[in-house]
Amino acid sequence: MAYWNWNSSYELGINVIDNQHKKLVQYINELQAALTTQNREQIYMVLMGMTNYTISHFAFEEQLMEEAGYPMTKPHKKIHESFVATIQKYKSSFEEGRNITGQFMAELQIWLTHHIAQDDNDYKQCVEKMLEDKSLKRLENRVESKKKSWFATLFG
Ligand SMILES: [Fe+2]
Repeated sequence: MAYWNWNSSYELGINVIDNQHKKLVQYINELQAALTTQNREQIYMVLMGMTNYTISHFAFEEQLMEEAGYPMTKPHKKIHESFVATIQKYKSSFEEGRNITGQFMAELQIWLTHHIAQDDNDYKQCVEKMLEDKSLKRLENRVESKKKSWFATLFG
């Protein structure tokens, strides 16, 4: 039984982001499973993986928000930064020999749930529109290049 089950109510509706959020939930579950083994090396590996994945996920989201011209990108980035700082704080404390606490696990879970429901949900419309426009543009380009090849067949 997983520590925390993904729930469809967490979904934003942007597949690529939902999959990354699922992966974060999976990392939290892996961390909990590692904690039960009390194997510090194993715990540390998961902690490192989770930290790196979180940083890449945030960078990805920030890129989308920027491309979409989302007006709250800057404050959203600040929220990301402060969460990374929290994770780093616990990671350093673990490196200094202390244990990962239930408090940290609860913090991760509460933060992520709240962040998806509030902050990420706020950029949803803007980013969705940008992604739709982009795929529309790609479709137009494909039709355009097809037209050119028909033209070449007829008159080339
Ligand atoms: Fe975010």
